[in-house]
Amino acid sequence: MELKITCIPGDGIGPEIVAEAKKVLDAVAAKYGHVIHYTDILMGGASIDAHGVPLTQEAVEAAKAADAVLMGSIGGDASTSPWYRLPPNLRPEAGLLAIRKELNLFANLRPAVLYDELVEACPLKAEIAAAGFDMMIMRELTGGLYFGERRTTEENGVRTAVDTLVYNEDEIRRIAVKGFEIARKRRGKVISVDKANVLDSSRLWRQVVEEVAKDYPEVTLQHMLVDNCAMQLVKDPAQFDVILTENMFGDILSDEASMVTGSIGMLASASLNDTKFGLYEPSHGSAPDIAGRDLANPIATVLSAAMMLRYSFDLDAEADAVEQAVKQVLKEGYRTSDIMSDGCRQVGCRQMGDLLAERI
Ligand code: IPM
Ligand code: MG
Repeated sequence: MELKITCIPGDGIGPEIVAEAKKVLDAVAAKYGHVIHYTDILMGGASIDAHGVPLTQEAVEAAKAADAVLMGSIGGDASTSPWYRLPPNLRPEAGLLAIRKELNLFANLRPAVLYDELVEACPLKAEIAAAGFDMMIMRELTGGLYFGERRTTEENGVRTAVDTLVYNEDEIRRIAVKGFEIARKRRGKVISVDKANVLDSSRLWRQVVEEVAKDYPEVTLQHMLVDNCAMQLVKDPAQFDVILTENMFGDILSDEASMVTGSIGMLASASLNDTKFGLYEPSHGSAPDIAGRDLANPIATVLSAAMMLRYSFDLDAEADAVEQAVKQVLKEGYRTSDIMSDGCRQVGCRQMGDLLAERI
């Protein structure tokens, strides 16, 4: 099969981790007889430096021309980088929001899994960690507070800022459908997270999710308020299978869930539209403090590439091979510094990529 992949190496550790993910993808292509055509585009700070804007229309077109996009990370240190002296709509993150909207990537899938080999890294009590967990956070990605109208005004010397949380029922329905479809292939349980005791947008969310649930009698649906969900994630993470939620709640809860795994360097993500097209990126940021030092953990990006094989190309055996390779290197005791523990062997970003590629 021919795979057209556009890469966004981005900023900070982005270029290093994308290079290792390509190494692993190349090993997959060699073993299973695929041909991969890569194109690189700039986004975030790298694009600001080259073009003065965080995302150009040409870059968007190049992304659209591919079957899938593999991204590293974007952004820098907000207190020191000149990128953050630009107006908000020209900063690195604006490029990411723009590409999500341009490509209609409304469904963000963020798996949070506690690996057996990394249980020691889990910051929860031993008895909670022992139960393990494997959840999929389904975050709506192109609506809500992120894309509603916003403005800051000043009247009689008093400044007022407004952000607007808007959802229409079609936006809720399409992410809910994805959530139930995914739950059906997992353990068949959706927990829909909202703030229906306060927000109108959440009350509509709840109604529409219930309508969609009728088409999936084999999936159980439970509603949970977002503040309670934040507590339940540290109290009993094993109860979660699919968490279905709106953009801002999903942003916050997915960071919490990743922290609970103790190894944010391991967590992949996929952002999908209603075709097979998707943008795949690690859940972590650009870690400018360790950039260029061969210290980054490439596993989250490698696992994002596995999600790409599975969701955009329907190459399940290949995706399994990548996930198995990750489990294998962990079992053999290799660790990057972020997940290092006693008795393991510390390796750099490049060596981790080599080890993974060899095990495909
Ligand atoms: C994420 C990030 C982005 C978001 C930022 C960089 C705009 O935190 O992907 O979770 O808030 O969506
Ligand atoms: Mg976030």
